[in-house]
Amino acid sequence: MSFYLTTPIYYVNSTPSIGNAYTTVAADILVRHHRQRGEETFFLTGVDEHADKVARVAAERGLSPKEYTDSIVGAWQELPRRLNATIDFFIRTSDEGHKTFVQDFLQRIYDNGDVYQDTYAGFYCFGCEAFKSEDELIDGKCPDHGIAPEWIEEKNWFFRLSAYQDRLLQLYADQPDFVLPSFRANEATSFIAGGLRDFSISRAGQTWGIPIPWDPGQVAYVWADALVNYRSALEYARPGQELTHLWGGARHLLGKDILRFHCVYWPALLLAAGYEVPRQLFVHGFLVIDNQKISKSLGNAIDPYELIDRYSTDALRFWFARAVSFGQDGNVSRESFHERYERELANDLGNLLSRTTAMIARYRDGELTATAGAGGDLAIAIARVRDEVPAAFDVFDITVALETIWELVRALNRHVEQSQPWQLAKDEARAGELDQVLYDLADGLRAAAIALSAYIPETARQILEALRQPVDLDWDGVAYGRTGATTGIEATPPLFPRIDAPA
Ligand code: MSP
Repeated sequence: MSFYLTTPIYYVNSTPSIGNAYTTVAADILVRHHRQRGEETFFLTGVDEHADKVARVAAERGLSPKEYTDSIVGAWQELPRRLNATIDFFIRTSDEGHKTFVQDFLQRIYDNGDVYQDTYAGFYCFGCEAFKSEDELIDGKCPDHGIAPEWIEEKNWFFRLSAYQDRLLQLYADQPDFVLPSFRANEATSFIAGGLRDFSISRAGQTWGIPIPWDPGQVAYVWADALVNYRSALEYARPGQELTHLWGGARHLLGKDILRFHCVYWPALLLAAGYEVPRQLFVHGFLVIDNQKISKSLGNAIDPYELIDRYSTDALRFWFARAVSFGQDGNVSRESFHERYERELANDLGNLLSRTTAMIARYRDGELTATAGAGGDLAIAIARVRDEVPAAFDVFDITVALETIWELVRALNRHVEQSQPWQLAKDEARAGELDQVLYDLADGLRAAAIALSAYIPETARQILEALRQPVDLDWDGVAYGRTGATTGIEATPPLFPRIDAPA
């Protein structure tokens, strides 16, 4: 079983936004979890370079598009690094391997008879990099970008999308989980059922892009170039190593803004070129502030690096998975970030580790004796994590999975309060009971750390190290009673130090 996950490749006309960071983190959480289950994983992200809007920004700066993208790509390569995202390859659409594959891909569609030449005139939104019909505009502007589209008239090469309507509907009928959440599959199928218009896969008025193999005077339309990255990367990401077998387990993660391109155009292009469609797509919602779109031009943007510098990468990763039900839109703010940091990370989790290690250090001189007992409620909470978290991950529900893990964290906190180890410590006759409580707390924390490692990998490692346990993240470790006897446990400093509330 393989789990090959992709993020959208981001436009490089500006620097990474909180929304881009959101998708990359969610993808990393998914990949890390599947890796813990022993699956073969591959994680692809990267950048979409051949957009008109990229060429325009370059021109504004007096650079050629390639000079410009070379100058900004480093800021994008830094994104997965700073998010601690365990990517396997970073694709650039200017990679030679990608360009060659795209040309071959388009040639296959041409040879298949699904490409014809026509003149197109219409409104083009440079924000979406797509033609817009008039009923998609509000007050003459693109509702997603708030800008008026420009009139374009070109002789282009068209892809016969309309010929794929039945096959696409059949695909959705045969594979009910092809697109998740299911309301997004419904959105795609109603769009398909409403009738599909052929679309242009080339641009005549532009030189920045991949030349069309049978008509090198034109370049590939940016979406017909970008979507193909998901498949092209497997051809050249690991020279000398065969990766194409991963395609059967391909999953795409994307935001709702680019649903049509991924859920309608992409499978049709693949069928036309003679490739299998991906295994699954998950369409997530948007982060919004006061129910308003986050945008640099509105001035309400939150810089992901500012949150990382102030709190930590793990705090940001946790918040992304927790603050917004994955799949839905969600309101976010610096205040809610801070509140959750204090209440959940610093108190629920951080204090639990501090108290547990402090008690083991104080009452047992840092020694943990292996005394797995019946486990009681804690064993039940651990078993729920072991069974229910993978099931939630199988439907990409990283928020529900995290809540299930947090129930274990809360059960551990209740266990401290109910068993009152500080009272047990006063009574020599109850030494066995105290050993049991300390063991169960350490064991529950160990199991929670393994399950949490997909979300907060650095914290999980710190917890396991504080408990003097091996940093073995294998999912089988999420079971009661796997903590080994050890010595040398010390009272640990806070996992999440106090930070002043945002001004
Ligand atoms: N280049 C295209 C994608 C091509 S994929 C073959 C593109 N790039 S983008 O830079 O605009 O990135 C869009 C993606 O960034 C969204 O689909 C989503 O994954 C993420 N997000 C950007 N803003 C977002 C929010 N405010 N909230 C959540 N995710 C958002 O489109």
